[in-house]
This record gives sequence, structure tokens and C-alpha cells, in this order.
Amino acid sequence: MTDIEVTVGSLQDLEDPGCREFSIGDGDWPFKGFVVRQGRNVYAYQNFCVHVGHPLNWAPDSFLTKDRRQIICASHGAVYEIESGLCVAGPCRGKELRRVECEIRDGIIYARGPASA
Ligand code: FES
Repeated sequence: MTDIEVTVGSLQDLEDPGCREFSIGDGDWPFKGFVVRQGRNVYAYQNFCVHVGHPLNWAPDSFLTKDRRQIICASHGAVYEIESGLCVAGPCRGKELRRVECEIRDGIIYARGPASA
């Protein structure tokens, strides 16, 4: 399947650190992901917790711990590193979120992935 690039938004509109959800493709099962901004870097992952496959968030664009230093799954509290997607605490410790290609061009964040989950 060919990957598709989508525009996620402007880097300067994102809090630092902050997150923004995106989806790729139409229909009932689009690919869902999110980006995390940390300074001038962005990281992107599939919105799929490796514990039992729930979406990581319950509220829109809300993926971070209270201190905003890590990603947390709202279902059972798995905690992941922002930079690597590695689970460092919780029920799936040692596993990793699926990374999604992303880059910043002219201040705009782009993500690239499959057109369906
Ligand atoms: S589904 Fe994420 S911690 Fe259980």
C-alpha cells in the first residue's frame, strides 16, 4: 500500500510540549496518529496503545502526562517516552508505539502513513 502524506498543522500553533491528532485516509477505518512537539522537534506515532490496542487518548489532542514529559495511555496508564515511543511504565513496559514518519517543512508539520489502519 502506498503511503499518503497529510498536513498536521503549523509548528508554532502547537504548545511546547503539545500534541495534535491526525488521520490518513477516509472511510470507516482511517489510520489515526498524533504528533508530539518538543522544542523544535516533532515525533509521530499511531494512536494505538500496544497494551490492548485502545486509542491512547480520551480527550482531543491529549496524550501527555501532567508534567508533559511523557506520553500516557488514558485506558490503563501505560507511560511512553516522547522521543522513542518506548513504554517505560505500566502494563506493556518494554514495548514500543508504532512510529510514523513526520517532518517539518517551512514551519508546517507533515505526517506520512498508510491510508487505513
Ligand atoms: S490500552 Fe493502553 S494501557 Fe491498556
